[in-house]
Amino acid sequence: PIIYAITPTYARLVQKAELVRISQTFLHVKNFHWIVVEDSPVKTQLVSELLAQSGLRFTHLHTETSKEHKRKESDPNWLKPRGVEQRNLALQWLRENRELSEEGVVYFADDDNTYSLRLFDEIRSTKRVSVWPVGLVGGLRFERPLVEKGRVVGFYTAWKPNRPFPMDMAGFAIALQLLLANREARFDLLAERGYLESSLLQSLVSIEELEPRADNCTKVLVWHTRSEKPKMKQEELLQKQGLGSDPSIEV
Ligand code: UGA
Ligand code: MN
Repeated sequence: PIIYAITPTYARLVQKAELVRISQTFLHVKNFHWIVVEDSPVKTQLVSELLAQSGLRFTHLHTETSKEHKRKESDPNWLKPRGVEQRNLALQWLRENRELSEEGVVYFADDDNTYSLRLFDEIRSTKRVSVWPVGLVGGLRFERPLVEKGRVVGFYTAWKPNRPFPMDMAGFAIALQLLLANREARFDLLAERGYLESSLLQSLVSIEELEPRADNCTKVLVWHTRSEKPKMKQEELLQKQGLGSDPSIEV
């Protein structure tokens, strides 16, 4: 089966660094197709060129998060879900461009996480929905599904444990055929904080059907890392003096 990784991304200082980092991880993954969806009214030159030079098989899409759902600079970062319309557009693309007969697995790979290559070996055998631990998330060293006799029986998580699927986006993969057969399944733009993952998974599987990976969910193969926002104090000072850095040099 081919692995489709869906990555929403948006312009900010660290964007190129993040995309270079994960694209070079993905280069090591066989039978891989990267669906990159820019949160932007246009396909930007930065992302277009990065993809063209990446050496990866890719699809480049864009859709700007609608005004009422867009997080403002002043909003706390948890106020609104991120990357939702972008992921839904990628699901729509798969439904319009892929046949039910194709064997594939879909993974939502945010641009700032850290991925072990071993994760992709685990993902590839997904029949319906596979699950595994995610490191450095939810205020814990890791969150993970709890497994007994090869079945998921609950979750180790501290934050809103009563969510239907208390898992981070990075902790599951879905068979392409399941997504193609359930054409209405999508992320809910209005989902309450923390309920985004559940909003999709609820219409696709039950907990008993989840397929544990990574040694019965005892190995951490993906980390919910987040990059620090770079400080631009000197840049701003220089800009005021008309001595800002050369804008034609891409960062
Ligand atoms: C957590 C989860 O790991 C995300 O999968 C989930 O979408 C998010 O919470 C949420 O609450 O919506 P977090 O690290 O806080 O993630 O979110 P980001 O990494 O900042 O954003 C998730 C993805 O959406 C990234 O790939 C990012 O590039 C993209 N994004 C973010 C946009 O496309 N537009 C934005 O305005 C912000
Ligand atoms: Mn993130």
